[in-house]
Amino acid sequence: MNNFEYKNPTKIIFGKDSIEKLTNEIPKGAKVLLLYGGGSIKKNGIYDQVKKALSSIDTIEFGGIPANPEYDVLMKALKVIKDEKITYLLAVGGGSVIDGTKFLSAAALYDGDTPWDILKNNIRSTKGMPFGTVLTLPATGSEMNSGAVITRQETKEKLAMGGPGLFPVFSILDPQVITSIPQRQIANGLADAFTHVLEQYMTYPVGGLLQDRFAESILQTLIEVAPAVLKDPTDYQAASNFMWSCTMALNGLIQQGMPGDWAVHMMGHELTALFGIDHARTLAIITPSHYTYNFESKKEKLAQYAERVWGVTEGNLDDKAYAAIEKTEAFFKDLGIDTKLSDYTKDFEGTAEEIAKRFTNRGWKGLGERQALTPQDAEKIVKMAY
Ligand code: NZQ
Ligand code: ZN
Repeated sequence: MNNFEYKNPTKIIFGKDSIEKLTNEIPKGAKVLLLYGGGSIKKNGIYDQVKKALSSIDTIEFGGIPANPEYDVLMKALKVIKDEKITYLLAVGGGSVIDGTKFLSAAALYDGDTPWDILKNNIRSTKGMPFGTVLTLPATGSEMNSGAVITRQETKEKLAMGGPGLFPVFSILDPQVITSIPQRQIANGLADAFTHVLEQYMTYPVGGLLQDRFAESILQTLIEVAPAVLKDPTDYQAASNFMWSCTMALNGLIQQGMPGDWAVHMMGHELTALFGIDHARTLAIITPSHYTYNFESKKEKLAQYAERVWGVTEGNLDDKAYAAIEKTEAFFKDLGIDTKLSDYTKDFEGTAEEIAKRFTNRGWKGLGERQALTPQDAEKIVKMAY
């Protein structure tokens, strides 16, 4: 196991009707900016619950943060923060609203002229305006981590940011929120969380026995609850296990002492930036090709995952590792998620070259757990995913 230091300061408030507990979490005298997305919270009752809990607190609202949070929209919110002398942010939404809020948390205290530089120059945010979240969509884990991904349509870019100053102070997780989520987004949440675990697990063995078993148990739980949450989102047991699994998949715990890959996400973000494909679907497109291309360096962990998560007992190590890739692709398909780029766009020619060019221009010479995946490798992987 590798050395590590781990601190996660986010307070989790989990369970039925927990949104009303919001009142106790906002500090006295705070001036709050309530941030939300395209308006789903106004239809499903979450907005009313939040407003009720905030009734005695000085609050201003900013709605309209789109899926894949857009820099230009966030810059308008930043102006409100400054003009209205906001002191505390509250995100009510999925990963997009929470990520947008993290960007604002950093941008509000940023000294430079152009907040885009936080993303472009990959500046680690050691401080941010304090913020809490009310999670409406289990998927990203953003509610308990310090990372964010921001999109800029003008330049078709989607870049990650983060740092120890950007953990939510608290996050409220009421599994009942999933009852109003469209099937497509539930499937996305399952696939995204599943891939988060794989990115931290499907590398090479370093003897992190406990981390491996944590990771495998999250994968098994997601596989177990997937049919139930898709069939009946009012099934509270299934919803609560789904929600907690998504949070645990990316709150740092399973990553400690372990190598991480994340190349699937880096290639996937480009597919969202270029074609607007849902985040989770880009991961389903890249994952099978990535594991096939990097078979030799990942086969021990692929085989272990095949055995322990999918119960594959037949064949030698290579056979099991191949079965692991097949099982993973079949899982995405069972969720109703297509796994080829051509399923999403007819305009895919040249995509692989464009992604390789972008990686080269950004100086991303070596991605993956061994920092060995070159832009040329990425080009081949994306081509395999056409
Ligand atoms: O915009 P609203 O009205 O809120 O509607 C949203 C949106 O249309 C809707 N929705 C959310 N909760 C709902 C609901 N509809 C009905 N009922 C509810 N309870 O779902 C749609 C998608 O929402 P979004 O927030 O975009 O989805 P998700 O949570 O999957 O977030 C995706 C974003 O997070 C980033 C992705 O790249 C993407 O930009 N990620 C963030 C990560 C992080 N911070 O750690 C890690 C991830 O790998 C990922 O990159
Ligand atoms: Zn993801």
